Amino acid sequence: MTNKADVLQQLKGRDMLTLLDYTSEEIECLLDYAVQLKGKLKAGEKVTILDGKTLGMIFEKSSTRTRISFEVGMTQLGGNGMYMNANDLQIGRGETVHDTGKVMSEFLDGIMIRANSHAMVEELAEHATIPVINGLTDVYHPCQAMADLLTLKEVKGELKGLKLAYIGDGNNVAHSLMAAGAHMGMHVIVASPEGYEFDGAIAERVKALASQNGGSFTMTNDPVEAATEADALYADVWTSMGQEEEAAQRLKDFEGYQINDALAAHAKDDYMFLHCLPAHREEEVSASVIDGPNSYVFQQAGNRLHAQKAVLAALLG
Ligand code: CP
Ligand code: NVA
Repeated sequence: MTNKADVLQQLKGRDMLTLLDYTSEEIECLLDYAVQLKGKLKAGEKVTILDGKTLGMIFEKSSTRTRISFEVGMTQLGGNGMYMNANDLQIGRGETVHDTGKVMSEFLDGIMIRANSHAMVEELAEHATIPVINGLTDVYHPCQAMADLLTLKEVKGELKGLKLAYIGDGNNVAHSLMAAGAHMGMHVIVASPEGYEFDGAIAERVKALASQNGGSFTMTNDPVEAATEADALYADVWTSMGQEEEAAQRLKDFEGYQINDALAAHAKDDYMFLHCLPAHREEEVSASVIDGPNSYVFQQAGNRLHAQKAVLAALLG
């Protein structure tokens, strides 16, 4: 058995582009560290291990939670988060990703980026000599999934064996959530309408990971199959950022995939409702569910801070 502190130590300098690049033990150690950091914050104990360090935060898309939680997280850890709108950078006028990565590495201690293209973030990470953290791309949203695991752990305790059902678009949030659940040995299931399924290549990797950890991964088109006896039901928007032109068509295609009281009645009585937010009430989720007693969405949003502080401290510390 490796010591948890050693596992965290070995993460120094790493990127976090997808949780599929991490071992289950590494994810587990990061989660434990997040619990510790949250406890210390609540107890008024300062942890300033990123004293004097700066995280550059590049955004090609809007954000409330990611921007605020990373900036506050850096401040609490004794460092500084610097917001950069991609349109205001030279990269917005055609400076190469290669040069941007090299130049930013001269000034910063880490980069958090929310980008349109996952391939672009991979290219940035290849050329930057400092850790690059994915703050959402078209394919993954790993920091969200870390907060999701933390929330499940706080409420349910043991994660292994839980049934986690994601109902909706097979998108960035779904990919990262299913990978996270698979790392923890959960029974993860995704229900999407035809044409909006989870990525096939990622599905293979998630399936292998789940079975290694004693869990399982299932893809279905049936929301009831997903919801049945679930410990947690998870929704995301039907129309992600950048897909606005498809919104009307998607509204039709996702009919029947709303998480509402009728669908939730198939889940366990003490099921948790989770949503990465922002939410559209009466589209992917009814107001009765998201504002009801089984909803943990604000605790989940708050956990973005604590989960990411663990990631920042480990990678940049
Ligand atoms: N869940 C999430 O990433 O929220 P923001 O888009 O507000 O950052
Ligand atoms: N799938 C959504 C998540 C937002 C946090 C999007 O990409 O817009």
